[in-house]
Amino acid sequence: MNYFGVSGPKELVEVLDRQDYVADEGLATALYLAIALERPLLLEGDAGVGKTEVAKAVSTWLGVPLIRLQCYEGIDVSQAVYEWDYSRQLLHIRTRELVRGVESDENLEQLEDELFSERFLVRRPLLRALDSENYTVKDSELLPPVLLIDEIDRADDEFEAYLLEILSENAVTIPELGRLTSERAPITILTSNRTRDVHDALKRRCLYHWVEHPSFDRELEIIKRKAPGVSEVLVSQVATITQEVRRLGVYKPPGIAEAIDWARSLSLLGSDEIDAEVFAKTLGVLVKYREDEARVKDLDLSSLIRTALERVK
Ligand SMILES: Nc1ncnc2c1ncn2[C@@H]1O[C@H](COP(=O)(O)OP(=O)(O)OP(=O)(O)O)[C@@H](O)[C@H]1O
Ligand SMILES: [Mg+2]
Repeated sequence: MNYFGVSGPKELVEVLDRQDYVADEGLATALYLAIALERPLLLEGDAGVGKTEVAKAVSTWLGVPLIRLQCYEGIDVSQAVYEWDYSRQLLHIRTRELVRGVESDENLEQLEDELFSERFLVRRPLLRALDSENYTVKDSELLPPVLLIDEIDRADDEFEAYLLEILSENAVTIPELGRLTSERAPITILTSNRTRDVHDALKRRCLYHWVEHPSFDRELEIIKRKAPGVSEVLVSQVATITQEVRRLGVYKPPGIAEAIDWARSLSLLGSDEIDAEVFAKTLGVLVKYREDEARVKDLDLSSLIRTALERVK
């Protein structure tokens, strides 16, 4: 079946590639199915493996808005869904008093209706994701926006419970206004670094994919795209060493972002190749814990550099 012009995971890999997102087939399959079944996709994985970026790539591919909800401890409905604009409501009451007065019961009722109308509603990301304004019609097909619920593991349990209604019913209930819904579910991507486990109830409503660190070839390709102009040899060395650092089982394995930053930093410093000296100087771009720095210093750097050189030949 064809969804937004894409007939399967392989084609989705190509489409994302055009947005400079280099996906493997596992991720593309999960994403394709989430789009086809109109189900949210929960992406879990270490930091910097490309979870957030994939939502951005989907939104640029479709040319639809990316609506992002960054989760944090204590996030609640007023930040995530909606709240009433109290100061504007107050100002409205004042103005009404001055102009017409509010003495009769009828007037009071009317005033209340006015105060709790869409005019004074502040729409937060989850509500905006259902708003027709963010739905685009292209070739007579309704394209939903991409909703990114980023780092859900940082939010509290109660907030997760609240999300259940929105994700399974594609609707929000506002007591004063009723139930608001959209014709089509937004393309929803949730991400988690797994600092705690997401509840089963939420997981059941989502498709799930664990995002692995990239293979050497994929990492090489990503660095080339995101750090253009860096020499082939340097990119190969960065990718080879980064992969090996991850294998060491360090406390915080470097993500793709670190590898890209490292390649850029080396290039900025004018290094054409990595050697022991430049490695020691720039290590802080790759690993960010003292214990990890100590472990990384044990790497057999010269043999890694040789391997990297052979890989570009
Ligand atoms: N598959 C990919 N293709 C292209 N670029 C990628 C890919 N994966 C990661 N990147 C690059 O790595 C950077 C980090 O990715 P991203 O922010 O998506 O990671 P994350 O998994 O969301 O990390 P965190 O858990 O720390 O939020 C991005 O800015 C992007 O440039
Ligand atoms: Mg992220």
